[in-house]
Amino acid sequence: MNLKEIIKNISEAHDADRESLRAIIENSSEDNFLFEEADRIRRENYGIDVYLRGLIEISNYCKNDCLYCGIRKSNLSVKRYRLEKDEILECCKTGYKLNFRTFVLQGGEDLKYTDDEICEIVSEIKKLYPQCAVTLSLGEKSFDTYKKYYEAGADRYLLRHETADEEHYKKLHPKTMSFQNRMQCLRNLKKIGFQTGAGFMVGSPFQKTENLISDLMFLKEFQPEMVGIGPFIPQKDTPFGNEKQGNLRDTLVMVALTRILLPNALIPSTTALGTIDPKGRELGLKAGANVVMPNLSPARFRKLYALYDNKICTGEEAAECRICLQKRVESAGYNIVTDRGDWKNRSEK
Ligand code: 5AD
Ligand code: FES
Repeated sequence: MNLKEIIKNISEAHDADRESLRAIIENSSEDNFLFEEADRIRRENYGIDVYLRGLIEISNYCKNDCLYCGIRKSNLSVKRYRLEKDEILECCKTGYKLNFRTFVLQGGEDLKYTDDEICEIVSEIKKLYPQCAVTLSLGEKSFDTYKKYYEAGADRYLLRHETADEEHYKKLHPKTMSFQNRMQCLRNLKKIGFQTGAGFMVGSPFQKTENLISDLMFLKEFQPEMVGIGPFIPQKDTPFGNEKQGNLRDTLVMVALTRILLPNALIPSTTALGTIDPKGRELGLKAGANVVMPNLSPARFRKLYALYDNKICTGEEAAECRICLQKRVESAGYNIVTDRGDWKNRSEK
């Protein structure tokens, strides 16, 4: 079978074996058929719609020490900040006016916020903006904590699995973190009823093709509603500061394969993609992504939320990011819609 036939087969079945995935990932030719198929499937399910998520980076304090991450606790060069409830609500107010209907509260694993405080913030946002969805991305928590967040009104939760291979996971994380716990958290989130987001970095240190295949097989099995994929980008004050960054094409190939395997998934074209290439986010959309996440964090804190070096959008105000992304989405041939953009099983529509 030639490569085109392999791609045709997996896009008909929305399923693949490891050998087919390996053939596609290892093929380095400039054949665009994979991206065309991903875009075709994306249009079948979502037309040209692109959903907006307003990203609010609520705290860069973190109790963890992931080796790749710029806000790991051992990085003493980071100036730490934490937003107050009122500051978060102010971001939502700005965002609502700019037509955002989803707010994503993301932060390091900051022990200072109690469950009650997070729940209060969530329920206040839901009270003020009942038409809006709230997504949390605050790391690993207990089942009970996740349950409280859900009962307070949170709709979605993002927790990238980072890598589906336990041995690889150990090389990216300190001994205090475990692959088993991460996977358990993902299962708990789903069980509680969250629209759940998984995802991984492409080109992270020690990553082999086999790991990427495992990531895709995991996604197929777990069926997350959302999948975040971006290139690994070194941050100079971390142990991986001198490693090489993930490459554009590999990242786009993983986005496209994810769209083909999970036709209904909500897939952002990530800031990290836009950081490694000026046209990265446009290319992400053309490879099957259907979500963009402009930054709504207060401009004065943006540079401090530096998970990796040279992050884009740290000098812009919320409205600027919103306009910039609108232009980018349109130039790629898609259209931003004002909608919560929930996951839907479109084949049952
Ligand atoms: N490069 C790219 N992505 C990173 N993340 C953390 N550090 C980096 C980095 N150096 C990603 C992780 C995390 C998400 C919030 O950001 O996948 O889950
Ligand atoms: Fe933030 Fe372009 S999206 S400046």
